Amino acid sequence: MKAVGLFQYLSIDCEESLLDLQLDQPQPGSRDLLVAVKAIAVNPVDTKVRAPKPHAATETSPKILGWDAAGEVIAVGSAVKNFQIGDQIYYAGDITRPGCNSEYQLVDERIVARIPRTQDYFTSAALPLTSLTAWEALFDRLGISSIGADAGKSLLIIGGAGGVGSIAIQLARSLARLNVIATASRTKSSVWVKQMGASHVVNHRNPLDEELKDIGIPQVDYILCLANTDQHFPAMANAIKPQGKICTIVENSGPLEIGLLKSKSATFVWEFMFTRAMFQTEDMDRQGWILERIAELVDNETLVTTVSDTVEPINAANLRLAHQQLETGHTIGKIVLAGWG
Ligand SMILES: NC(=O)c1ccc[n+]([C@@H]2O[C@H](COP(=O)([O-])OP(=O)(O)OC[C@H]3O[C@@H](n4cnc5c(N)ncnc54)[C@H](OP(=O)(O)O)[C@@H]3O)[C@@H](O)[C@H]2O)c1
Repeated sequence: MKAVGLFQYLSIDCEESLLDLQLDQPQPGSRDLLVAVKAIAVNPVDTKVRAPKPHAATETSPKILGWDAAGEVIAVGSAVKNFQIGDQIYYAGDITRPGCNSEYQLVDERIVARIPRTQDYFTSAALPLTSLTAWEALFDRLGISSIGADAGKSLLIIGGAGGVGSIAIQLARSLARLNVIATASRTKSSVWVKQMGASHVVNHRNPLDEELKDIGIPQVDYILCLANTDQHFPAMANAIKPQGKICTIVENSGPLEIGLLKSKSATFVWEFMFTRAMFQTEDMDRQGWILERIAELVDNETLVTTVSDTVEPINAANLRLAHQQLETGHTIGKIVLAGWG
C-alpha cells in the first residue's frame, strides 16, 4: 500500500522529512476495523511528532503520522460488533498506533463513527480530532452543560480561528448557549470566529485580561486555552472568575504558576484527546458516541464543518506543504487532503 512516513525527525524544508513509501497492508486485531483511507486532515500534532528533537534516534521502521481520517471499512476483526464491511466512517485514532497517512489503516471500533449522512469523505475528515478535543474540553473536563443548563455564562476561547477553536465556538454557542469571547489577531481570523458564532473578539497579541476589560467583561466563568499556555497563564489567572474553570490543551514549555489560582479556588484541568485510546480507559467508547453526536449535529445543520483548504492527492510533497502551512501558526479551520493519485 502507499503511505507517507519518516525515518528521521527533520525540519519540514528537508525533502526527507516526509517520504513516499510502499508498505504491507496491516491485519486487523480483534476489535479493529481495516479502513481504506479516502481523506485525511492535518493537525499540529503531526508537525509536533515530525519536528526535530534532541537525541531522537533514526527509526528502523517508518513512522506514519496522521490522526484525522475518513474512509471505508474493508475488513473487520473477530470481535467487532458495531461496524461492517462497506461502512463509511470517520475517526481521529490512537497516537500510539500508526496514523492515517497510509492507504489502509487499523482503528479500534470504539473510537469510530459513521460519517455524517450529508457529508462526503473530504468534509468529514476535517471533523474528528478537533470535534473530540472541543467536546471533551467543554463538556467532560470543564463540566459545562451540553443541554444549556449553563446558558448565559461566559467563555473565553484563546486561539478561536484554528481547527479546535472553530468547532469549540460552535459547540459552546449552539449546545451550551454560552456567551463566547474568542481571540484572533488578524482581520481574516476575526471575521472567521464571528462566523463560527463568537459574540466578541479580542486580540491575543495583547494581554488578554486587559483586552477583556476593554470590552466590559473583565472576568469570565470559563477559559479554554488552545494556544501558548505559558504566554497566557498570568492573564488567565487574572481573568477567571472566583470558582471559575480553566482548561488548556497545549503543553507548557516552562513551569506554570498554579498558585495564582488558589485564592479564587479556580479549577485548572488538562484535555488530551488521545488519553482514552492511549490508556484504553473503561469509557473509551465515549469517543465513538461523541463522533455519532457530531455527525447528527452536522446533519441537522447545528454545526458546519470547518474545511478551509482542500488538496489532492495525498503524497509526501502535498503533506510537506500542509505541515509548512500549519507551522506558520495562522491556519484557519482545517486543511484536508484526499485520494492517493
Ligand atoms: N490536547 C489535545 O488533545 C489537543 C488536540 C488538538 C490540538 N492540540 C493543540 O492545540 C493547539 C491548537 O490546535 P489547532 O488545531 O486549533 O491549531 P491551529 O489550527 O494551527 O491554530 C491556529 C490558530 O492559532 C491562533 N494563534 C496563533 N498564535 C497564537 C497565540 N500566541 N495565542 C492565541 N492564539 C494563537 C491563530 O490565530 P491568528 O492567526 O488570529 O493569530 C490561528 O487561528 C496546537 O498546539 C495543538 O497541538 C491539542
